[in-house]
Amino acid sequence: MSLALFCPSKPADAVDVQQVAPGVWRLRFGNPEPLTPIHFRSAEPAVEAMKSLPAAKDLPIALKQISFSVRPRGCTLELPMTRGERIYGLGLNTTFFEMSGKRAFIVPGDQPENEANVSHAPEPFYVSSDGFGVFVDTARFASFYTGNVDPTSKPPGADSAGNEAASAGGVEDLYRARELRKRTMLIDVPTAQGVDVYLFSGPAMMDVVRRYNLFSGGGCVPPMWGLGMAYRGLNKFTADDSLKLAQSFRDDHIPCDIWGLEPGWQTHAYSCSFVWNRKAFPDPDGFVRQMGVMGYRLNLWEHCFTHPTSPIYEALAPYSGNYRVWSGLVPDFAMPEARKIFLGLHEKEVFSKGISGVKLDECDYQPFRSTNVWSFPEPSQFPSGMDGEQMHSMLGVLYQQTMKEPFDQRNLRTWGLVRNSQALASPLPYTVYSDSYDHRSYVRGVAKSGFQGLLWTPEVRNAESVEEFYRRTQTVIFTPFALINSWFLRMPPWMQVDREKNNAGQVMADHAEVTAAVKKLFEVRMSLVPYLYSAFNEYHLHGTPPNRALVMDWPEDPNVAAIDDQFMCGPSIMVAPMFTGQTHRSVYLPKGTWYDFWTGEKYEGGRRIDIGKPAEIGPVFVKGDTLLPLAAPTERFADNTCYDITVRVYGDHPSAAALFEDDGVSNDFQQGKQNRIDLTWAEGKGSEVRTGSYAGPARYRIVGWDRVASKAIK
Ligand code: GAL
Repeated sequence: MSLALFCPSKPADAVDVQQVAPGVWRLRFGNPEPLTPIHFRSAEPAVEAMKSLPAAKDLPIALKQISFSVRPRGCTLELPMTRGERIYGLGLNTTFFEMSGKRAFIVPGDQPENEANVSHAPEPFYVSSDGFGVFVDTARFASFYTGNVDPTSKPPGADSAGNEAASAGGVEDLYRARELRKRTMLIDVPTAQGVDVYLFSGPAMMDVVRRYNLFSGGGCVPPMWGLGMAYRGLNKFTADDSLKLAQSFRDDHIPCDIWGLEPGWQTHAYSCSFVWNRKAFPDPDGFVRQMGVMGYRLNLWEHCFTHPTSPIYEALAPYSGNYRVWSGLVPDFAMPEARKIFLGLHEKEVFSKGISGVKLDECDYQPFRSTNVWSFPEPSQFPSGMDGEQMHSMLGVLYQQTMKEPFDQRNLRTWGLVRNSQALASPLPYTVYSDSYDHRSYVRGVAKSGFQGLLWTPEVRNAESVEEFYRRTQTVIFTPFALINSWFLRMPPWMQVDREKNNAGQVMADHAEVTAAVKKLFEVRMSLVPYLYSAFNEYHLHGTPPNRALVMDWPEDPNVAAIDDQFMCGPSIMVAPMFTGQTHRSVYLPKGTWYDFWTGEKYEGGRRIDIGKPAEIGPVFVKGDTLLPLAAPTERFADNTCYDITVRVYGDHPSAAALFEDDGVSNDFQQGKQNRIDLTWAEGKGSEVRTGSYAGPARYRIVGWDRVASKAIK
């Protein structure tokens, strides 16, 4: 091994530093690899929007405090950490929330409930409670040792004892050096002989995240129908099965916008042919048309591994990796040729038929099991020059980008699902989902998604009990993709929650009550569509994540630092899900006034309260001094949908709120074809002001202002 490659750890003040966007600095160490998340970015930074964020003039970390070294195994970075510094982000692992004191692997996997930080969306980006963000631009399986390593050499900028500024004296000082040494952020980037690190300035964590999302290009805006309810039928459903069940939803007025077809629509699914199975779907065009007449948007399941019977197999082979998965080719989506061939077949079978979105399955990996390791190995080679490790990091993002192209060409928005994502993904209109199913972990996933430009659905499938089914539904309706994923259930879970009994056709005795209760929850979701649409427009315009942990909104409150069983939904709603077996739970209400969403009861915050709710509803709170626009629930979004809005008025001096009005389906809003309806309340009276140049059918009619009288002060 050549010793010439060894380069001792050294301060990084010789490093190339560039301010690349307002409040964002790129630090170039050594010779970075070319094929990284920045290289494959989905959109250019939204620089104009970034200008309006508060930003420090200087780097959030002094260069002399950062060290970098290159060795045969790759490169390492050391960043300082302060004593109380907390770390958020680094992917969508659902076991951990705050990430300091750990080794966080940035490795994709299909089981996010684990202690190795494996997740569907490993992300080399973190937000520090000290008010800055760090993005390491790598497609390598990096590790972040978040404050638990103890280097023997003195960190740059420290004195001989390792203290930044040791003071002689008290007993505390005896231990000071040890504590400080433990607070080094060590980042291991294997293979690479250099790396670009992007520092994001605060001052607050919310500013960091907004800046990161805008730097990524700004958050996606779903089509309005994407915010409705989504149902996925049994994997084996035929066209008739889907049509029948879909019609029964309409007959029973069960809200549903998106209908998902699982593997059975194809002639071969593991791996995929991308060709309709004509036995189950004799007339795909007719089927799509009939579903459209009923007002459904179709979403098709697939993964990218291309089966030998697929008509594109031969053509795709030269643009694929040198290992197959389930006998299927792994297309190299970094090659335009691969995208073109792949999309050519999809154009014919999928997009030209009017499919509205896709579910991109299996693009993660299962690296740490001793049995049943699946997907391609890390030493794989791809024609673009990527190896298997890099491709595993980028596959989800490249696949999402590829499948978005046909919609961009049609000037249509899409709304899809994906099982792998990575950095800079906020502009991509896909929500991450999982086969894992622990409800508590799912809620943590919702809270975590907001740190890093990701969307997460705690999808509902079967349940051990009706109570569990309610509790899960109460969570999912406050997240981006309100998904009932019945891919292994013949009947909807509200007819029978138990998987075996469901498939044996045994309807629950109380199914009528359960259906009525679930329908009410779906209607709550539908009443929130305009509010959520505003939250997503804020995501797009200002980078504010629609779902987030409380610590982002109340960074100064030490009580929220570790709260991961409550989350924010939009600017003013806080959800505190209950879990099976709980008859009541402790909820932390941050400082200020809060109102119970269901009863209007008023609470003073800055404390914990104990709250109980019947199984049919979960604890949801609205921030005081809020204008909350709620729609009369529709069953689905249609081109001519106009929501009847009642604005709930919480408190005497509510802040203004805005509704965003546009065609709901195209990208014209990005060219300014959008109205903003500003809602304000003064002197006991509400008013609305509409501005903008959207001239299509009105989306909103304000039918009332409802002062929420506080029913009780607690
Ligand atoms: C899984 C996926 C499920 C379902 C299933 C169908 O991999 O996560 O949601 O789509 O495949 O085979």
